[in-house]
Amino acid sequence: MSLVTLKEILAGTRENHYAVGAFNFSCPEDAEGIIMAGVEKQAPVILMVSMNALKYNGLKATIGMIKGMAEAVDIPVCLHLDHATDYDLIKECIREGFTSVMIDASKKPYEENIADTKMIVEYAKEYGCSVEAELGMLGGREENVVVEDSSAAMTNPEDVPRFVEETGIDALAVAIGTAHGFYKAEPKLDFERLEKITKLTDCPLVLHGGTGVPEADFRRCVQMGMSKINYGTAIKSVFVGAVAAVAAEEAAKEPGKQDPRNLLRPAKKAVAEHVGEKIDIYGSTGKANKN
Ligand code: G3H
Ligand code: ZN
Repeated sequence: MSLVTLKEILAGTRENHYAVGAFNFSCPEDAEGIIMAGVEKQAPVILMVSMNALKYNGLKATIGMIKGMAEAVDIPVCLHLDHATDYDLIKECIREGFTSVMIDASKKPYEENIADTKMIVEYAKEYGCSVEAELGMLGGREENVVVEDSSAAMTNPEDVPRFVEETGIDALAVAIGTAHGFYKAEPKLDFERLEKITKLTDCPLVLHGGTGVPEADFRRCVQMGMSKINYGTAIKSVFVGAVAAVAAEEAAKEPGKQDPRNLLRPAKKAVAEHVGEKIDIYGSTGKANKN
């Protein structure tokens, strides 16, 4: 299938009590693992690339690669630029064929966050690209985004309606107690805050910082109306762990018998299995052909 927008892939999620998994990829192999999981589960998937990963893979190569992978399968796939703070880069991604971008102006004051987000939404409209923005600030590290725990701030529900209305965004990232990266202690999610937010807006909501969130919390978020769940850091660990498990054995082989695919194939498979488990928890299994 051709790439679909974030707006399209999230349509119907809240009413039907499931969330679409949005998974960060670093290289072609983990991207393929994510798509393999989507195919196996017949689930829509969002492939997210950070500004750092985009630099590593190359902008045009990233689009060509994900577009090609999506066209080879029968599930909806969305290509999303994650946590972007560089507005020129966001615009370039929109022009070149991304079907979704996240403008992360969450560190800026409310009024500036509105103005900048609105500017990107207007630009994206011309190209039929969706836009996600963030209100509040998650602690932790996500590639190029680093927020000290002391600066983390939950989303103020009262800020939501005006932000959604004035910016015209397609999805809103909310801070309700999760953080980026592995947790030092089990996260405490503020479900009351989430409930208030869901009552104040119909805009699809996004949970960031999925790594390490207990299964029960994911399920509760989804039941309460979360539409997109971002999951990244653990995928890197799963990938590295799978490569490490076979690396010594492969390295010990005669040079003529060594093959990088012997390292990457199991890594791809491990990513697919891990992502598949999350897809089941998010309730998007079997939701590939909702129309
Ligand atoms: O935007 C990406 C996500 O929020 C991923 O968070 O790396 O903690 O799973 P995570
Ligand atoms: Zn995030």
